[in-house]
Amino acid sequence: MLPLASTPLHHLLLLLAAVACTRPPVTTSKSTVEPCTSSTSCPALLSYTLCADLKLAELAALFAADPLAILAANAMDFAAPDATNRILPAGLALRVPVPCACSNGIRKATSVRYVSRQGDTLASIASQVYGGLTAPDWIRESSDILEAGADDALDAGATLVVPLHCACFGGADNGVPAVYLTYVVAKGDTVPAIAGRYRTTATDVMSVNDLATPDVAAGDIIVLPLSACSSSFPTFTPDYGLAVANGTYAVTANRCVQCSCGPGNLDLFCVPAPLADSTCSSMQCSNSSMMLGNFTLVMTGAGCSVTSCDYGGYANGTIITTLTTTLKPLCPGQHQFPPLIPPPTSSFFQTYLGPSPAPMTLRGGNNPTGSPDAVSGVPRRGRHFSGAAVILLALCLVATMRW
Ligand SMILES: *[C@@H]1O[C@H](CO)[C@@H](O)[C@H](O)[C@H]1NC(C)=O
Ligand SMILES: *[C@@H]1O[C@H](CO)[C@@H](O)[C@H](O)[C@H]1NC(C)=O
Ligand SMILES: *[C@@H]1O[C@H](CO)[C@@H](O)[C@H](O)[C@H]1NC(C)=O
Ligand SMILES: *[C@@H]1O[C@H](CO)[C@@H](O)[C@H](O)[C@H]1NC(C)=O
Repeated sequence: MLPLASTPLHHLLLLLAAVACTRPPVTTSKSTVEPCTSSTSCPALLSYTLCADLKLAELAALFAADPLAILAANAMDFAAPDATNRILPAGLALRVPVPCACSNGIRKATSVRYVSRQGDTLASIASQVYGGLTAPDWIRESSDILEAGADDALDAGATLVVPLHCACFGGADNGVPAVYLTYVVAKGDTVPAIAGRYRTTATDVMSVNDLATPDVAAGDIIVLPLSACSSSFPTFTPDYGLAVANGTYAVTANRCVQCSCGPGNLDLFCVPAPLADSTCSSMQCSNSSMMLGNFTLVMTGAGCSVTSCDYGGYANGTIITTLTTTLKPLCPGQHQFPPLIPPPTSSFFQTYLGPSPAPMTLRGGNNPTGSPDAVSGVPRRGRHFSGAAVILLALCLVATMRW
């Protein structure tokens, strides 16, 4: 056994993991909604905590998202071999990128479909499968099952429309580009603690969410403005409005292009994606030998003239490139990319931490869509264990990055 097992730190980690997996009650008291009129979608993020081990591809299916886009949005290596088959450990909190549409005058992500399983209720789907990011009423209305009560057992195999809370607020916060992360308040969360975790301030969180006091309760839905790099692609491109949070990546143009934001500045920086192949259209700027992301520097009397080959959106299967020249007071150094971490896997933790003392470690793990079996009831020891391991890994990473 690990010496760690009996230390107070270990108990603290177990507690944290248990808190992370306690699903908020369905009777949500407060939620931030954004009224809308335009039918144009905008990019948004949802914060989702895994309550059971889950394959990345299955998590992606749950949110109708591209698995690689999920990794990229979390600064996890999206070129890692066999990434989509990785089993992500319970307790992991991830940012899921979604297109935020407009439905009945409110911003909602509307592309998610869920096929009900034996024993599902509207309440369990809302609070357990989707972690409180939707409401039973929303599913009921959009799925046209008006007679179903929140706690009525649903027919298995029915396809339900699951609208999810999201917001864009014009892609800005106080006039600065921002992408909004929808966050379901967990037990024990406070506004200052949440704000600190996402590098914003309690005042800003309060003003964005129209909170008179910094009081939130478990299950409340708030949105957090994350500083971001914005784009100015033409409206006819499918990635129009692309915004990437500082320190993260996005994969676009049919996985041919990767764009990243930060850490040095908040200018979107796009280069050919690691998985780009011959099916991708040319990424060379016309009348130039430069590829996406290449730049040249020329010192002039007035400053540094930077000519760069930039990404301009994706139109009809064609990658738009633009050659731009700007004058800067100082020449930029070599471009620094935000650091990527390997996608965490639960098998990784088993390898490093040895088998769990309880034989039931994998019970409820590896459950495809987080059915009630996987997410209801008292958290099992196995789940605690991997949740603690995630936090440990995070601590290790922080320690490594400080070097
Ligand atoms: C972006 O993130 C980096 C750390 O990843 C931080 O040092 C920098 O200050 C951030 N930039 C802005 C404008 O928030
Ligand atoms: C590229 O160069 C050709 C001739 O040199 C010119 O006719 C064309 O307009 C240029 N295209 C761009 C995008 O600058
Ligand atoms: C130009 O970009 C390509 C693709 O990212 C890269 O392989 C190449 O090294 C870059 N060339 C220069 C001179 O930066
Ligand atoms: C894309 O193709 C469609 C038809 O194939 C055409 O109507 C549309 O104008 C094209 N858009 C652009 C931006 O080229």
